[in-house]
Amino acid sequence: MPYSEIIAILEAEGFLYENEEIFPQLLCLKSNVKCIPSVSYRASFLKDCGIEIFRCRAEENEITRKASEENSFGRYLLKGQTFSVRIKKVETGSSIDTGKIERIIGKAILEKTKYGRVQLSNPNISFLGVLTNNLLIFGLKNNNLSLHRNPLRRPKSRPFFHPSIMMPKLARCMVNLARVNSSSLVLDPFCGTGSILLEAGLIGCEIVGSDLSLQMVKGSRQNLEYFKIQPASLLIADAKCLPFHKIARVVTDPPYGITSSTFKRYTKTIISEFLFFIADILMEGGYVAISIPNSIKIKEICETLNYRIVEQHSLREHRSLTREIIVLQKL
Ligand SMILES: C[S@@+](CC[C@H](N)C(=O)[O-])C[C@H]1O[C@@H](n2cnc3c(N)ncnc32)[C@H](O)[C@@H]1O
Repeated sequence: MPYSEIIAILEAEGFLYENEEIFPQLLCLKSNVKCIPSVSYRASFLKDCGIEIFRCRAEENEITRKASEENSFGRYLLKGQTFSVRIKKVETGSSIDTGKIERIIGKAILEKTKYGRVQLSNPNISFLGVLTNNLLIFGLKNNNLSLHRNPLRRPKSRPFFHPSIMMPKLARCMVNLARVNSSSLVLDPFCGTGSILLEAGLIGCEIVGSDLSLQMVKGSRQNLEYFKIQPASLLIADAKCLPFHKIARVVTDPPYGITSSTFKRYTKTIISEFLFFIADILMEGGYVAISIPNSIKIKEICETLNYRIVEQHSLREHRSLTREIIVLQKL
């Protein structure tokens, strides 16, 4: 899912990409460098992000040779700036001494630029290498990550809390998977405490939400106000019949009957009726990102409806619940 989230952000923001390579804990692809701020700000499962400078076999001699031949360090490190080099080992089996590799590459950068100065904490420029799949992939790290990692977003720091709340990281990821951008209008028809609406609002989307419970609608409003996000509309309504039309993005988390009320109906019925209704008001090419328990077979529901299943991810929450995060596109 973390890789799919990045791809979805690139598509949503209109960046072309090619040559995707998936390594353990690393996604490499070719795209416009201007995508980095968007990806860094939006992606919830991203740890680091940057520009690849070189790659080679994960062997000390090879790394030493590659680093000493590399002529582009001066492009990233300007006069008077400090820098650090960090190497992360993803494959625990590798016997490479990461500290030694950091020193080898740091020395090569100093020799090449002549003006850099090493500073391990708070450097101006951070270089990062990842040892994965018998390769070292080395690059410039974006230091402006985690703009959205706001501690106030923690569920318990919000004015309204309910145990059915979706964690901010997952809510953000679902919003991203629905390929929204700041000009999208996002609907959550099972909005609960408003987590999904909040994440969409923080990306700059216009948001509309509804829930069958008055308490939840009031709670959502309180939470959104706390973050100074103004919904275009927030209603008490059944998700199978909403006063909206021409919606392009729906991101939602219907009730499973564990921590949230189904109002005495079966989860499968609620989801089927909702998808049936939404198919009518969703614009052609529009996306629905929905979280459902894996006991519900989405293919069966979608068979008669005009949706394409874009992607499907399983998330084990605990022994008795595995969620499926499903992205549908209206044909
Ligand atoms: C899993 S919770 C949503 C949690 C939300 N994503 C959050 O993070 O707070 C499901 C919500 O669906 C609402 N609900 C149940 N049946 C509904 C229906 N038929 N139409 C609309 N909302 C409904 C419940 O009141 C509950 O708030």
